[in-house]
Amino acid sequence: MTAKTWRIGVAGLGTVGAGLLAFLAERPEFAPAGGRAEVTGVSARSRSRPRPFDISPLPWFDDPVALATSPQVDLFVELVGGSDGPAKAAVEAALKAGKPVVTANKALIAEHGAELAALAEASGAPLLFEAAVMGGTPAVKMLREAMVGDEIKSVAGILNGTCNYILTEMEATGRSFAEVLAEAQRLGYAEADPTMDVGGFDAAHKISILAALAFGCAPNFAAAEIEGIEQVELLDIAMARDLGYRIKLVASADRSPDGVLVRVHPSLAPLNHPLAQAGGALNALFIEGTRIGRIFLQGPGAGSGPTAAAVAADIADVMAGAQRPVFQGPAKSLVAFTPVDPSKSVGRAYLRFLVKDEPGVIAAVSETLAEAGVSIESFLQKPVENAPESMRGGVPIVLTTHAVAESVLKAAMERIAGLPAVIDRPRLLRIARI
Ligand SMILES: NC(=O)c1ccc[n+]([C@@H]2O[C@H](COP(=O)([O-])OP(=O)(O)OC[C@H]3O[C@@H](n4cnc5c(N)ncnc54)[C@H](OP(=O)(O)O)[C@@H]3O)[C@@H](O)[C@H]2O)c1
Repeated sequence: MTAKTWRIGVAGLGTVGAGLLAFLAERPEFAPAGGRAEVTGVSARSRSRPRPFDISPLPWFDDPVALATSPQVDLFVELVGGSDGPAKAAVEAALKAGKPVVTANKALIAEHGAELAALAEASGAPLLFEAAVMGGTPAVKMLREAMVGDEIKSVAGILNGTCNYILTEMEATGRSFAEVLAEAQRLGYAEADPTMDVGGFDAAHKISILAALAFGCAPNFAAAEIEGIEQVELLDIAMARDLGYRIKLVASADRSPDGVLVRVHPSLAPLNHPLAQAGGALNALFIEGTRIGRIFLQGPGAGSGPTAAAVAADIADVMAGAQRPVFQGPAKSLVAFTPVDPSKSVGRAYLRFLVKDEPGVIAAVSETLAEAGVSIESFLQKPVENAPESMRGGVPIVLTTHAVAESVLKAAMERIAGLPAVIDRPRLLRIARI
């Protein structure tokens, strides 16, 4: 008996699409279950754009929807990107036609995962998205398959390589956020419009997907509390370091009896913590299960080769006939998780105040914190060399707190902001709880 040939349609021939086509051309019989993966159609925006491989022998489709529904395609791979538009239309069309879909599109899955899961279930077609989170590092399969025998309590980590690269470079070179971002854009590490990355939205898409898989619910991107790295200043990086911490953009999802809290924000991790050690564009993730305990994953979160490898792993699953619910249960019974009010969350924090250099200021700040019920863990006051114009006439004081409810902390910060000796908006960074 000859092994089955899977006819594959690939929409999107950019970074990931190019990596996938190169891999499938080299190893069409890579799937462990046997069979051959043959690309029988491609689609992108421009047919004439120069590409790192010759697409002229491959059937071309102007419209990804036509490719997704073509009789020449058994399995549709979506590598266009974007939560709506052609990517969504093509994935919907493929699923409605009963065709397995593999995608790397976190925005699509985070924002429309529940409706797509319903379409997939109705037609019995698999919908797989390993590459959508952590690129080549297998976080999705870890939660979807390997950890279903446990109850997950939390997932948290560094899920955006661009932000991690920028923060790492800021610390290493002493250059500002704007300078490092501009260089990252020049080198092609950051998009021309960097908002999705530096604004924390990309990490929020990914953690929303992981939360859905970890807690058996529909993705609830709208409930994520999101803060990016645009406001991270060199001064905070230096002060945090003096206190024994490194600033990272941490995405986390925690389950409690009240519901699930999904957040993305710059956080301090102790210098010897694995998250603090994951530098450059690396991604890193902790998964905590009730019985298994803590698992730590670290690896590339992007790039042509690693991401294409994750897409290929999903293709291999389809070729092996693997069939699981898209999230952890029948689509009909999936509900979005109940979001927990972030102001009720309790944790340690780093606070920075810019104050007039005069007697009694430190006492006023610490008394205000004490009256509000915020207990100080450590305190640092240091003159700043080459202080920027915005800081002239002020000295920064930095402190870390013991665990406190965020609502209490924010109320105390507001009162401190109103003290006559405080000359700039106070800064708050959370200390990572992992
Ligand atoms: N890059 C990574 O390392 C990485 C990692 C994990 C996940 N992902 C995800 O993988 C997906 C693809 O990312 P990428 O980095 O490969 O993107 P990319 O390099 O920007 O490539 C996007 C591709 O989609 C095509 N395209 C755009 N609009 C289209 C339209 N209206 N109709 C048809 N084709 C269209 C483009 O066509 P042209 O080439 O003709 O312009 C291009 O080939 C995204 O969902 C992304 O979030 C990427």
